[in-house]
Amino acid sequence: MKKEILKALREAGEGFVSGQSLCEKAGVTRQAVWKNIAQLKQMGYDIESVPNKGYMLTGFPDILYSEDIESRIKEGSICKRVESHDIIDSTNIRAKQLAEQGEPEGTLVIAERQSAGRGRRGRSWFSDAGTGVFMSLILRPDILPSEVSGITLIAAIATSKAIEEVCCARTQIKWPNDIVLNRKKICGILTEMSAEMNCINHVVVGIGINANNKSFDNDISDVATSIYIQTGKKADRAQLASVTIDKFGEYYREFNKVLSLKPFIDEYNSMLVSKDKEVKILYGMKEDAEESRTQTGIARGIDETGALIVDTKEGTKKIVSGEVSVRGLYGYV
Ligand code: BTN
Repeated sequence: MKKEILKALREAGEGFVSGQSLCEKAGVTRQAVWKNIAQLKQMGYDIESVPNKGYMLTGFPDILYSEDIESRIKEGSICKRVESHDIIDSTNIRAKQLAEQGEPEGTLVIAERQSAGRGRRGRSWFSDAGTGVFMSLILRPDILPSEVSGITLIAAIATSKAIEEVCCARTQIKWPNDIVLNRKKICGILTEMSAEMNCINHVVVGIGINANNKSFDNDISDVATSIYIQTGKKADRAQLASVTIDKFGEYYREFNKVLSLKPFIDEYNSMLVSKDKEVKILYGMKEDAEESRTQTGIARGIDETGALIVDTKEGTKKIVSGEVSVRGLYGYV
């Protein structure tokens, strides 16, 4: 019911919503509305109440409450339920647990902080309280396991678009799915799947956005940044989360129809930070290790499978995500 009340208050903007209207929208009694308004105030929402006028939302806390995110999610969105946590080991781990217990597509797990946030290639993901958006969405696509990498690429486009809409910041994508702002990373995506032979049980798309971090530890500050550091403005994390998921759902629907990245190639390539630039391909994944074989070339963009096309001296190569790492010639991008 808090979801319906918050939705009605938010839709009214700087206007009042009458108690009667809230009763009708939430389908409950006056008393139930009073009780929930009082609870929302305790949760940190500023709600002005004026006799004969009703209620107006004048401020909200920077906390990722499930009711709040659900109230912002658009009608018809892929997201059907939000489970929020103050602290959790990893939203990906929780989403996978839920999926294994039969949770349907469209459940989003979100957390204020993660005690064991996970990145790609076994790395950890910095997840301090109040700094970021840490969330994982459960999907049950009817596609082949080999097509799942496409979901990660469209998640990168959707997140980048959401950051632009909510935070007015133009980001770029470092292939395959890091989002960068001024050549530093502000978002990472970890997609995990459970499949048997050619049949997918579930996919979990985990998105971590560095939203309001004021600084990063020395060991990652060369590579990592946040929206706040780059723009000087605090991001509305709940809005960022809900717009990202809504947008992702739109791209995902289209992807499921065509089962190809063809409709997204131009958009993705227009955001690609290394488009037509020289890149270093690291084979063997061991970026610092001596045994890594490297090759340089000019990145041209992705094809309909999501592979990165690179022109090298030895000819044009199609680089498949997961096999290699691609860097700029002199650093991370
Ligand atoms: C990367 O290495 O770039 C991927 C980072 C993904 C981090 C997100 S935060 C939400 C979700 N839960 C996790 O444990 N990881 C992902």
